[in-house]
This record gives sequence, C-alpha cells and structure tokens, in this order.
Amino acid sequence: MRILRTIAEVRAAVREAKAAGRSVGLVPTMGAFHEGHLSLVRAAREQNGLVVVSLFVNPTQFAANEDLSTYPRDEARDAAFAEAEGVDILFAPEPAEIYPDGFATNIHVAGITEVLDGASRGPHHFDGVATVVTKLFGIVQPDVAYFGQKDAQQVLVVRRVVRDLDLDVRIVACPIVREPDGLAMSSRNVYLDADARAQSTALNRALDAADAVHRAGERDGASILSSAHAVLSAAGIAVEYLELQDAETLQPVTRIERDALLLIAARVGAARLIDNHLLTATDTTEATP
Ligand code: PAF
Repeated sequence: MRILRTIAEVRAAVREAKAAGRSVGLVPTMGAFHEGHLSLVRAAREQNGLVVVSLFVNPTQFAANEDLSTYPRDEARDAAFAEAEGVDILFAPEPAEIYPDGFATNIHVAGITEVLDGASRGPHHFDGVATVVTKLFGIVQPDVAYFGQKDAQQVLVVRRVVRDLDLDVRIVACPIVREPDGLAMSSRNVYLDADARAQSTALNRALDAADAVHRAGERDGASILSSAHAVLSAAGIAVEYLELQDAETLQPVTRIERDALLLIAARVGAARLIDNHLLTATDTTEATP
C-alpha cells in the first residue's frame, strides 16, 4: 500500500491503473476506522482493480462549535487497517493540498440539505461534504465510490451532486454496521463514557420498536414515531430530531405509502449520535403465500 499526500501523485497512480484496464474504487473517509469503514473497503476491494481510500478530516463540514479539534485521529492505526484489507492507495493530504490559498468554490445542494442534519448542524455541513466529495471525485476519478448508509442524508446529497453535475461515478451505499448490542458503529462512539454507552443502545432499540409496529401493519407516521419516542424517553434521551421522511426526497411522511426513512439524531453523553432505518411500504411480518 502507498500513502500519498499530493493530488499529482494520486492522479499519476490512477492514470497508470486505468491504462492497465483496472477499475477504480474510492472510499472517502475521515479516518478513525471501525468495522463500518472496513465493510466499505471490503466492498471496494471485491469490486475493483485499484482501491483508493481517502483519509481527510474535512474542516469545512464542521461548525465552529463542533469537534474538529478533538475528532479522533490516528493515521498509523488507520494505515495498518487499510493495508490489512488490501487497499492500494491511502490518500492522506494536508488541508492546504485540498484547500489551497484562494480556494473559493462551494457546492450547495438545495432542498434535501435543509432538513435533519442540515437544519441541526447548519448549511455549512452538507456544503462542506458536497464540496470535498466533488473534489475527491475530481482527483481520483473513481468508477465507483462507497458510502455508509448510517449517513443516509449524506448518501442522498452525494447522489444528487452526481446526478446534477453529470459526474461519471457510481455510488454504492453499504449497510449500517452495528455493535453486538445494536449501536451503529461511528468514529464518535469513542466519546461515550460507560453510562452514555449503555444509554446509547436506545437509539437502535427505538428504531427496532418502530420497525416492529410497522411490520405489524401500522402505516400511520405519528403512531410509528411515538413507538420510537417511547423507547428514547424511557432511556432519558432527548432527541435533536426523530423524523419519518420519504427515502428519496426527505419530505416528511405522515403515512407510509412509499419507502420511508426513520432518522434519529441525539446527544448521548459527550457524543452526537445519528442512526436510521428504512421502512418499506410493503414490509410486514405476515408471511406471504
Ligand atoms: O462520511 C464521512 O466520513 C465524511 O463526511 C466524508 C464523506 C469522508 C466527507 O468528508
């Protein structure tokens, strides 16, 4: 595995791989690898001749009051994991390589960025994500790029950018990877102390409760939401948001007639956690003959 710091080096390596007929898979990350990241890397490894993992804690997607300075960073550990998974290139640039003096472009996606994390964290968040991901696509020119479904809104934003700007890259969303007790894996889980870690399982339990009600045939949005709320409030968690939204447009859903996402964000101890679950219009526990 090569650790590359500059855009020119990555371009040269990708050019060579493409000339040899190898497809290029990109896994954009901010490091602090866990099994969720590794599942993306494994999917990329299975499906491509050249696997590039980017490791860049993107400053523009953090607000001033967020955790940019404390975000977990351990490049040597991440590099060891990446190497063990057969990654070809770890692209770990300095901020000035990505945002040189005079950098003045911003990619803004309207609509779907104005709700959920866009509303909670502010418009800079998805502008920062869309801009850096577009740059990474420009630098690496991947055939396929891999994202985690835990960041469901991010996946929709990236898909929108790709569609609207006619970028020649296929987006693959990989399933959420969970701890044995259901907590969705996240680099921010390291902020949880023992009490908060125990409390954090309520997020997935709330999604499971809503899923059970939905599978039993409930289609009313308010009833589904209240089953999730009950679990969260019993665990003493005050949510930042708990919403049922159309799985493509992120418009609020009052009745499930198409696929819908149930999405949660909550502060648990020192961590801000997000999680989500897809409720499909057809899911039910009744066996179909
Ligand atoms: O999901 C992440 O880790 C980041 O938002 C991403 C996609 C690498 C962009 O900085």
